[in-house]
Amino acid sequence: MIIERADADDLGVILTLRTEASEWLAQRGIDQWAVAWPNPEEQNRRILASIDAGETWMIRDENEATMATVALDTFSDPRLWTPDEQADPAMYMHRLIVRRKHAGLGTEIMDWACHRAHRLGLHWLRIDVWTDNTGLHRYYERNGFKHVRTLDLADYPSGALFQRSTDAPGDRP
Ligand SMILES: CC(C)(COP(=O)(O)OP(=O)(O)OC[C@H]1O[C@@H](n2cnc3c(N)ncnc32)[C@H](O)[C@@H]1OP(=O)(O)O)[C@@H](O)C(=O)NCCC(=O)NCCS
Repeated sequence: MIIERADADDLGVILTLRTEASEWLAQRGIDQWAVAWPNPEEQNRRILASIDAGETWMIRDENEATMATVALDTFSDPRLWTPDEQADPAMYMHRLIVRRKHAGLGTEIMDWACHRAHRLGLHWLRIDVWTDNTGLHRYYERNGFKHVRTLDLADYPSGALFQRSTDAPGDRP
């Protein structure tokens, strides 16, 4: 797998991956990502800003076909993480999407993200997950994340907070 920074041309690819994922989830009765959050324009603006900042990554095969994407930054959303937590250096993961035909790649991508965070001196890999999607919560727990708390925020759909220590990247609980 080749991991490289996304460029502006990847916006369309990322939106396609997101649409594929939301359609797959809808088929399984899961409403996560059914609509752009908070609206399509703002969602695209956020993704492009992340690309411009060098914080969005594309995972491709040897033929340059995109298999997955993920965004990683060091911004602690103050609505989610407490001042004490924010003071403890962490990497924040967003928009992890693995295309269906490459299902299983997510673990390797998160191990890579943990290694990267560790190398940068960051102690945690953190993620906010769709609040009521318990299936997805279990997935992150299987991948070494611990549940921190679940917030009930009226204007934010992903209030389930998880983090994984970067000290021993690749270790499973
Ligand atoms: C979550 C994801 C990145 C995991 O990729 P992966 O590690 O390669 O593993 P898989 O795609 O095989 O998924 C692992 C398991 O989680 C389940 N799962 C994946 N996404 C899920 C979701 N959003 N809600 C509920 N279950 C989900 C899969 O059905 C699978 O279950 P199984 O083990 O019973 O078959 C990938 O499934 C994906 O892109 N999902 C849709 C987008 C998404 O939810 N991203 C995470 C945002 S926080």
